[in-house]
Amino acid sequence: MTRRNAARPHLPLVVTSDDALLDDLLRLAAAGGTEVEVAPDPAGARGRFTVAPLVVLGTDQAAACLRARLPRRPDVVLVGRPDDAGRVWEYAELLGAGHVATLPAAEPWLLDRFAASGCGGTAPARVVVVLGGRGGAGASVFAAALALTAAHTGRRVLLVDADPLGGGLDLVLGWESREGVRWRELTERDGRVDLPALVGEPAGAGDLVLLSFDRRLLPAAPPEVMTAVLDAGRRTRDLVVVDVPRRLDPAAVVALQAADRGVLVIPAELRATTAAAKVIVDAARHCRELGLVVRGPSPGKLTAQQISQSLQLPLLGTLRPEAGMPAALERGRPPALEGRGPLAVLCRRLVADLCGPVPVVPA
Ligand SMILES: Nc1ncnc2c1ncn2[C@@H]1O[C@H](COP(=O)(O)OP(=O)(O)OP(=O)(O)O)[C@@H](O)[C@H]1O
Ligand SMILES: [Mg+2]
Repeated sequence: MTRRNAARPHLPLVVTSDDALLDDLLRLAAAGGTEVEVAPDPAGARGRFTVAPLVVLGTDQAAACLRARLPRRPDVVLVGRPDDAGRVWEYAELLGAGHVATLPAAEPWLLDRFAASGCGGTAPARVVVVLGGRGGAGASVFAAALALTAAHTGRRVLLVDADPLGGGLDLVLGWESREGVRWRELTERDGRVDLPALVGEPAGAGDLVLLSFDRRLLPAAPPEVMTAVLDAGRRTRDLVVVDVPRRLDPAAVVALQAADRGVLVIPAELRATTAAAKVIVDAARHCRELGLVVRGPSPGKLTAQQISQSLQLPLLGTLRPEAGMPAALERGRPPALEGRGPLAVLCRRLVADLCGPVPVVPA
C-alpha cells in the first residue's frame, strides 16, 4: 500500500474524496513506485499543495479547490473520467491546471508522472539475465534464489519467467496457487504493465513480484511486452531478474540487451561445458557482461577455474551440491529461503555486488 498520511513534503499529493478514483490513483502511484500523500479536500491539501512535487486533483474536488482559493500551480494534473469531459476542461481553465488526464486512457501517462515525481526517484534497477549452459543446469532455481535473496535483504525485486516451455517459475517459488497476472493475462491486455498486479508477496523490508508462465502452452513472450515489463521494472524496482531459455527467442534477446549482467549457470561436467560454449556464442552477441556460476558435483573432477578458462568467461561463483534441494523444491519450498547454504550465500554476495549495500529503511 502506498498511501501515507504523515506530512512528507517530497511526496506527490492526491486530492480526492472519490474512493474509486483514489483506488485507481493509488494503484498507478504504486505501479510508478512511489508513495503519495492523500487529502480528501482542499482543507487537507492546503499545507502541502505548494511543496508537493506533483499535485493530482480529482474533478470531484475541483469546485471546492476553486472556492478555497488554493494557490495556482500550472503543473497541477486534473483527473477525471470520460463523463466529466466537458467540466474537466472548464475547471482546468479556471484553476490554471496545466494538465488534464482522462482515465483510463491516460493511465500510462499518469503512471509516468508518478514515477518521475515520487520519492522513488532513485537509480534505475539493475537487470540480471540468467540462463543455463545445458538443460536442467539449475538456472531457474538460481534465478528464483537470487530474486528471493534480494527481496529478503530489503530490495524491491521483479522476477521475470521468460521461458515459455518451462514449468513456470511460480512453481519454483511454491506460488502456483497465488492470484495475480501471469504472461497470458498480460499479453491479452492492452499492453499496460502494472507490476503490483503480478503474483507477489511482500517479504520483509523489500518485496518480490513475479511475472510467470503457467501450465498452459503459450506462445513466446512478445518482445514489445518484455520491453514494457523491463521498463517498468527498471523504473520502480531495485533489481530485475530474468530467467531466459537457452534457445534465445526475441523476448530473451530484449532481456539480454537490457541486462547489466548475464549469469550462465553450468554443471561442472565436460558435456555441459561443450554445450555451454554454443549457448555463449549466441548470448554474447547481445550481452556485454556474461559470467559463470559453476554448480557441483564434478564427477570428472573438472574444476570451476578450468571451465571458466575454457569458456573464456569470468567465474562469478561456485555452488556445492545441496542434497536436500531437489526434494524441497518438489514440495514447493523456495530455494535459499532460510538464507543458509551455498546457494543463499552466493546469492547474497551477487546481490550486494549488483545493488550495493543493503538500503537503510527510515524508522
Ligand atoms: N543448487 C542446486 N542444488 C541442488 N539441486 C539443484 C540446484 N539447482 C537446481 N537443482 C536441481 O536441478 C533441477 C533443475 O533445475 P532448474 O529447473 O533450475 O534448471 P534449468 O537450468 O532452469 O533447466 P531448464 O533447461 O529446464 O530451463 C531442479 O529441479 C533441482 O532438482
Ligand atoms: Mg529453466
